[in-house]
Amino acid sequence: MLSQLVGRATVTVDDLMAVASESAHILEYSAQLEAREAELTRTAGALREANAKLMQLSIQKDAFLSQISHELRTPMASVSAFSEILTEGDLPPEKVTRFGRIIHDEAKRLTRLLDDLLDLSVLENGAVQLNLGLASLQGMLDTALTVAQQTRPERSFLILRDLANEAIHLRTDADRLTQVFINLISNARKYCDAATPELRIAVRQRAGRVTIDFIDNGKGIPKESQSLIFEKFARLTDANRAGGAGLGLAICREIMTNLGGSVAYLPGKGGAAFRLTVPLRLELRAGETGRG
Ligand SMILES: Nc1ncnc2c1ncn2[C@@H]1O[C@H](COP(=O)(O)OP(=O)(O)OP(=O)(O)O)[C@@H](O)[C@H]1O
Ligand SMILES: [Mg+2]
Repeated sequence: MLSQLVGRATVTVDDLMAVASESAHILEYSAQLEAREAELTRTAGALREANAKLMQLSIQKDAFLSQISHELRTPMASVSAFSEILTEGDLPPEKVTRFGRIIHDEAKRLTRLLDDLLDLSVLENGAVQLNLGLASLQGMLDTALTVAQQTRPERSFLILRDLANEAIHLRTDADRLTQVFINLISNARKYCDAATPELRIAVRQRAGRVTIDFIDNGKGIPKESQSLIFEKFARLTDANRAGGAGLGLAICREIMTNLGGSVAYLPGKGGAAFRLTVPLRLELRAGETGRG
């Protein structure tokens, strides 16, 4: 329109109105273009971020896979070497028994490692099926203490309980919570290095939540390692003696998240100290887990 007016002798009001309307359209169009450009810039930023996250995940996945293959290779190498010696024959019976025991122990270790990895993967994906019901806290702790006695059974361990406060019923997944107790108690049995080892279990209830502390009298976990203890394959003390894969606390953390609670390391308590927090009554809607 504007181009048609240039060079004309008279310009009518209608012509001017048409020019005004055209300018308004152009302005609107240019505003739309600006908005689109801003949106494109935002999308490009989001894509860059997603890409960086994917790269990070890919690095973590590679590290995880190389840790797993390392963990699997060690017991597999023992099984392979000792079974080969056995097939060569001509061995005194006590050696046959000893090598057979090593093969058996390593096979058990491998099975446990695979079970733990599978469990962790189900828990991390939020695909875990919780079995909720009312359960006695005291009963769960009793069971866990009995099971954990299999860890270094030769060691006498003083357990200090808080029976009065334990006399409560939680609505939770009893098997999963007991699994967490077992790992914390077994860890204390494995890693507490005090001459007369002790484990104190203290319970408190406040505002619909229950805290359960497990405090031993060993050296505890050094400050610089405390941020790593819940990571997969974290072994910070005397790993050879204990022989664990370092998955126990990672599994505990995932279970506690699924149970709507948490697990934390409490520094400055003398020995190693872990605090569990769980809701007194976990309520889930159909198809929901306790995450989030
Ligand atoms: N009570 C404790 N005292 C001192 N160190 C501990 C204690 N509990 C855990 N740790 C340290 O934290 C690390 C991680 O514990 P976690 O339970 O994850 O693994 P693990 O017991 O070594 O192996 P797994 O539980 O898979 O058999 C342990 O290897 C140990 O170094
Ligand atoms: Mg453990």
